[in-house]
Amino acid sequence: MLDGKKTLFSGMQATGNLTLGNYCGALKNWVTLNDEYECFYSVVDMHSITVRQNPAELRKRARALLTLYIAAGLDPEKNCIYYQSHVSAHAELSWILNCYTYMGELNRMTQFKDKSSKHADNINSGLYTYPVLMASDILLYQADVVPVGADQMQHLELTRDIAQRFNNIYGDVFTIPEAYVGKTGARIMSLQDPTKKMSKSDENINASIYLTDDPDTIIRKFKRAVTDSSAEVRYDKEEKPGISNLIDIYRSATGKGIEEIEREFDGKGYGDFKLAVGESVADLLKPIQDRQVDLLKDKAYIDGIIKANAEKANYFANKTLRKVQKKVGFPERIR
Ligand code: TRP
Repeated sequence: MLDGKKTLFSGMQATGNLTLGNYCGALKNWVTLNDEYECFYSVVDMHSITVRQNPAELRKRARALLTLYIAAGLDPEKNCIYYQSHVSAHAELSWILNCYTYMGELNRMTQFKDKSSKHADNINSGLYTYPVLMASDILLYQADVVPVGADQMQHLELTRDIAQRFNNIYGDVFTIPEAYVGKTGARIMSLQDPTKKMSKSDENINASIYLTDDPDTIIRKFKRAVTDSSAEVRYDKEEKPGISNLIDIYRSATGKGIEEIEREFDGKGYGDFKLAVGESVADLLKPIQDRQVDLLKDKAYIDGIIKANAEKANYFANKTLRKVQKKVGFPERIR
């Protein structure tokens, strides 16, 4: 707990393009959280290399993501937005916690099973111990809450188990983190299969709106969105999952309510509705994209943020790391 505030930690990978789902479901709702929480958002580049990356590309994407967070409204003075690789405590704690994690636990991780079948030629041990690095990320900052999607829940459970195990042996060293259950945003579904979540790794590029898509692309993708044959703009997730998803997106982009939207398009065709949704999303994303472009040009400013926030992150992370090192019996540093 810092300044009487609880701590929130989240990590994001710079691989893959963020989608409208990531924005409406997460990022958009995070900009107000710094009033209530001390927030840390790490660009987890150490996690990214568990899968082979092009170095120049990784560096570029990591910077673009960090900048996007600021462009989307996270104030870098109030939120610690930093690169994981700039804080060596992540690697150090990760080693220690590896020694408190059982192979049986890691064997059960479904993401490891998925990723190893996708990258069968590179099942490296980093991929296997990835959840321990993730646990270290969270525990280093004594995070109370972690906003995670369903796919990361298993890793968060493991984090809690490792922390509990460590605390049982050494006393209260780690805060036991919980999933963030505050106001969560809309759950945005695929435009091509509205029963599936919109995903940055979808093979069909028409299924997802990327935050980098230009207005024409956005409008074209909405035109092609899968709907139904009844030509009625009505919210009904069971019968009309496609239209309901578009209504959710339109709600999220405009702040309008469901009934208001149904009235607005009463008697109009899907063509008009899809165009309106596309335009609302283009209007939502354009200012963020413009700000990101401007920020990326302002090297000195972004570099300053990177440096200051890495210092801040190092300060908090090292505090926990020193405590852990002492607990496990490493000799004291001579100063
Ligand atoms: N594993 C997460 C993902 O792939 C990213 C991540 C790394 C993370 N460390 C974290 C998320 C800590 C939350 C907290 O999406």
